Amino acid sequence: MISESAIFEALRAVQEPELGRDIVTLQMVKDVSVEPSSAVSLTIELTTPACPLKDEIEGNVRVALAGLGATDVTITWGAMVRRATPQRSEQLVPGVKNILAVASGKGGVGKTTIATNLAVALAIDGASVGLLDADITGPNVPLMLGVEGAPVASAEGKISPLERYGVKVISIQFFVPEGQPIVWRGPLVGGAIQQFLRDVDWGELDYLVIDLPPGTSDAQLTLAQAVPISGSVLVTTPQDVAIQDVTKALAMFRRMSVPVIGVVENMSAFICPHCGDSTEIFGRGGGEGFARRHELEFLGGIPLDVRVRQGGDAGIPAVAQRDPGAAADALRALARTVAARMSVRAARQEPVLSIT
Ligand SMILES: Nc1ncnc2c1ncn2[C@@H]1O[C@H](COP(=O)(O)OP(=O)(O)OP(=O)(O)O)[C@@H](O)[C@H]1O
Ligand SMILES: [Mg+2]
Ligand SMILES: [Zn+2]
Repeated sequence: MISESAIFEALRAVQEPELGRDIVTLQMVKDVSVEPSSAVSLTIELTTPACPLKDEIEGNVRVALAGLGATDVTITWGAMVRRATPQRSEQLVPGVKNILAVASGKGGVGKTTIATNLAVALAIDGASVGLLDADITGPNVPLMLGVEGAPVASAEGKISPLERYGVKVISIQFFVPEGQPIVWRGPLVGGAIQQFLRDVDWGELDYLVIDLPPGTSDAQLTLAQAVPISGSVLVTTPQDVAIQDVTKALAMFRRMSVPVIGVVENMSAFICPHCGDSTEIFGRGGGEGFARRHELEFLGGIPLDVRVRQGGDAGIPAVAQRDPGAAADALRALARTVAARMSVRAARQEPVLSIT
């Protein structure tokens, strides 16, 4: 009969490609049991339920165990998202493991679209997710998620977020009468966001996604200071004007030591639904070139797709649509890449596993 220790020994050959260590050292293998028939069952605890490398890991585990003569291998998948948030957030939002900001320089490039789809995609993959609409003067999250209502306060005086597509949501829109403009200045905006962090009952979250307002103005600056961001995604279109503005946003983030995970190019090409022809409406390669010049990771491109726009207006994010399409696929892949990068950041902060 195969011994438990032989199984652990064999599984040392299986790497977590992202973290560059084997899954035994990373303590990802749990609950190993072996039947007299040599049937093996085990649990593999990933660093995120949105792991893009799950299939690769599974294949390698099966090969390693087959090498031992295991007849039948049953794998149960688990996930334990690790904390990558700076110390400061533990006081502000103790249950939140990762705060992920979606930012841009130029307005209208698709931040809210990407933030909502990211949040929903992570929730679909099984993560516990919150979404904070930090666009105080132009909140669009409620529309794009199709959520409205007035949050209630709990017994402890905390505000309960609303919930949609398995995502906990908070927006200033929930607190102001429909159609009323919101005219707040910088410091007040920062205060409101801090309050959204501190006074909202977020509970335990793997990821809290923050939809930032556009620009590199005072408001944006106060915001980036107010929120202990563990990673940010910069959104741009391929167009020169967008690249120019996102360059300013990057400079601001770097000055303020806000960690940047990488760059997403939105509205890349337009694939004609009629003839399948691809048109590069906003030009080509702008996002990738920007990433390369600034030594950032290019996280991928999201095509222009009418279903994304329709979904945004109807409150049904592309990733939650029944007939999703290429843009939705790209958004799901983006969510997994971002989750994987956050895992690496978290692992780097853990002394035991300290990855370099
Ligand atoms: N990939 C895409 N394909 C089609 N339409 C898109 C795509 N990305 C965004 N849009 C549409 O473009 C418009 C602007 O997007 P969005 O509101 O997400 O941008 P934003 O950067 O958040 O804007 P703001 O700076 O005003 O906050 C929306 O109508 C949205 O549905
Ligand atoms: Mg927006
Ligand atoms: Zn066409």
